[in-house]
Amino acid sequence: MGRVFSGVQPTGNIHIGNYLGALKQFVELQDENQCVYCIVDLHSITLPQEPKELKQHILDVAALYIAVGLDPKKSIVFIQSEVSGHAELAWVLMCNAYTGELSRMTQFKQKSKDKESAPAGLFTYPILMAADILLYDTDIVPVGNDQKQHIELTRDIAIRINNTYGDTFTIPEGRFLKEGARIMSLDDPVSKMSKSTPNADSRISLLDSPGKIKKSIMRATTDSEGSIRFDTENKPGISNLLTIYSVFSGKPITDLEKQYEGLGYGTLKKDLVDVVWNNLEPIQQRFNEIRTSRELQNILRDGAERAETIAEKTMKRVKERFGLGL
Ligand code: AMP
Ligand code: TRP
Repeated sequence: MGRVFSGVQPTGNIHIGNYLGALKQFVELQDENQCVYCIVDLHSITLPQEPKELKQHILDVAALYIAVGLDPKKSIVFIQSEVSGHAELAWVLMCNAYTGELSRMTQFKQKSKDKESAPAGLFTYPILMAADILLYDTDIVPVGNDQKQHIELTRDIAIRINNTYGDTFTIPEGRFLKEGARIMSLDDPVSKMSKSTPNADSRISLLDSPGKIKKSIMRATTDSEGSIRFDTENKPGISNLLTIYSVFSGKPITDLEKQYEGLGYGTLKKDLVDVVWNNLEPIQQRFNEIRTSRELQNILRDGAERAETIAEKTMKRVKERFGLGL
């Protein structure tokens, strides 16, 4: 059994890109592995958050974790800031990472590009992510493709420390889904579906109403060619709709191309609305049950305790290797 770790930021509504690129894999992995799934609230404050909203978003993500099928008996589900080892280990790693390698992170470049001066936390964000992963002796990190560079950095830092201070960390590997690894924005299918773009019709959130889902899909940008085929370069909009259809229905894209041969974009979109809703309805039902229940608090408390037990051991080892403390 390997150890799996991953995290999702509690910022805004989780969308189908997060679900297909990340959460769905989390569920698939929990039978064969010891999984640790975190709500990374410390990561979310790299950009300003409204405290009351943040608290709600943390619980939303926790409830969604359970609603999509994570079983708290099998997996550890907890909030990052409840285990102090994350921030502590991040400091140690920070002293063994270089400003040059952090400057090369594309996510940092993107998030700081319009700012005259960025918060230091935005710059050191990947180190906190490395700490999350290394704290739990993680073997596998299921994430979307956009996190590849951060995983590479985590490995580089871990290998560097192992070489200098002796065997300290397990070297983790990323696990990237091919299909669904990158769900594109509905209104601008050459950029990735994101929690933060202003146009709500650019994404489908897991908690969207059937009406909203219909509106967003029917408005999705396509092209003027009129034929339904997968071609990301020339037909990014239709290709994105086919990808979403395929991962939600389990039908291969080539089958969908045949099924929709000679039919119009409207037909494809109408069917896609049903396919998406059939998948989201049970998730929303479970979410509504769990979100306000006492059970959720218990799951998170228990998860933090179990996470802490693992984290403590790692921190003890790190301190020993570095000669820190008593
Ligand atoms: P974030 O929204 O940045 O907290 O991302 C949470 C998880 O969802 C990460 O593993 C991301 O890589 C993944 N993710 C975010 N956006 C997308 C997308 N458009 N398509 C696929 N995966 C995504
Ligand atoms: N940086 C990740 C994202 O934006 C979230 C994250 C934080 C994470 N810590 C992690 C993912 C550890 C995997 C493992 O999506």
